[in-house]
Amino acid sequence: MTTPEEVFATPLRLSDKVVVDPPVVLAPMAGITNIAFRRLAREATVPQLEGRDGALFISEMITSRALVERNAKTMKLIAFGEEEQPRSIQLYGVDPNIVGQAVRDIVANDWADHIDLNFGCPVPKVTRKGGGAALPWHIDLFDDIVTAAVSAADGAVPVTVKMRIGIDDEHVTFREAGLRAQEAGAAYVALHGRTAEQFYGGQARWEAIAELVELLDIPVLGNGDIWEADDALRMVEQTGCAGVIVGRGCLGRPWLFGDLAAAFAGRGERHKPKLNEVAETMYRHAELLAGWVGEEHGLTDFRKHVAWYLKGFSVGGEVRSALAMSTSLAGLREMLNRLDVAQDFPEAVVGLPRGRTSGGRRVALPEGWLASRTDRAVPVGAELADSGG
Ligand SMILES: Cc1cc2nc3c(=O)[nH]c(=O)nc-3n(C[C@H](O)[C@H](O)[C@H](O)COP(=O)(O)O)c2cc1C
Repeated sequence: MTTPEEVFATPLRLSDKVVVDPPVVLAPMAGITNIAFRRLAREATVPQLEGRDGALFISEMITSRALVERNAKTMKLIAFGEEEQPRSIQLYGVDPNIVGQAVRDIVANDWADHIDLNFGCPVPKVTRKGGGAALPWHIDLFDDIVTAAVSAADGAVPVTVKMRIGIDDEHVTFREAGLRAQEAGAAYVALHGRTAEQFYGGQARWEAIAELVELLDIPVLGNGDIWEADDALRMVEQTGCAGVIVGRGCLGRPWLFGDLAAAFAGRGERHKPKLNEVAETMYRHAELLAGWVGEEHGLTDFRKHVAWYLKGFSVGGEVRSALAMSTSLAGLREMLNRLDVAQDFPEAVVGLPRGRTSGGRRVALPEGWLASRTDRAVPVGAELADSGG
């Protein structure tokens, strides 16, 4: 087995163009990991790279049907910045033909360098139709989708798989799905150590990640509950995973990716910005969003980030809500100027969960879904028309 020191020092080589070094990945998050956020997270790593290639920053989930149909919103979502190298798209799909076509389109048009497939979505509107985390239960259909994607990629771009432990504790899928993904030619398998039933609650089970590492020959990436860079080191030490995927921990803290790069290089510095620097990052985030979708939409999209950025800082309720209601960059600047910016980063929030933490609900599934594992029929209505969301 690879030692943690080897993992920290070993690039995750998915292709000649996609070398993930340090082996750290920004989790695809719908509504979050757009071009603006990816840029902030990537920039944070730059001073820490010291010649390494860089981490991987995955797009928010893109619906394969919407991409095949050239839906305008989707085409906007798959646009990358000039500095984005390699470019990574996450696809969601339930139909092998449509997923295959989406991959062919991406390769033919040179839209990305890496494609990740989403089999972990726990949202009821998706699982109710047999999509997301419900799909790997129909293991032959899962296999058909991964095989179609790898074959359509034709060696031009690496294809990876992201999944959960299973539907619930009685319907576990990760072992068989991992083996099938490996057999189909996935370049890595990423496991979020929760079932769909757990949603975002409780604790991610890193022991399942360790088990998958033992089971597979291809790299396994671990995901779930990395709130600080040192959690990532612990995950590697405890599971032997070849890399880590970080989601909610970086909400309102894109600089966490700098800490992760430092940690994987064996350095101890952890960035704890004062409120003045946080305010500058907030403004820049809003500015990047405005540059991407226009000022009005950009500022609307920025609203959800305000509470994450300010978590733990002493900022009055009135100023908080005024910041979240800003409709222009000038208005946002005016409100940021009212902050008591000399405040240190609040130690009290270090290591605490952020973002969604709810869990423990019965998973909605199509009628009779659990009766068969080998049904390869494409579930009806599970292909979302739109991306993100
Ligand atoms: C707001 C939000 C949006 C998400 N969107 C996606 C998505 O589009 N695709 C996906 O595979 N996972 C998605 N996830 C799941 C994350 O990628 C990740 O697996 C999960 O949050 C666990 O990792 P964490 O504990 O580091 O947050 C989303 C999670 C959140 C909180």
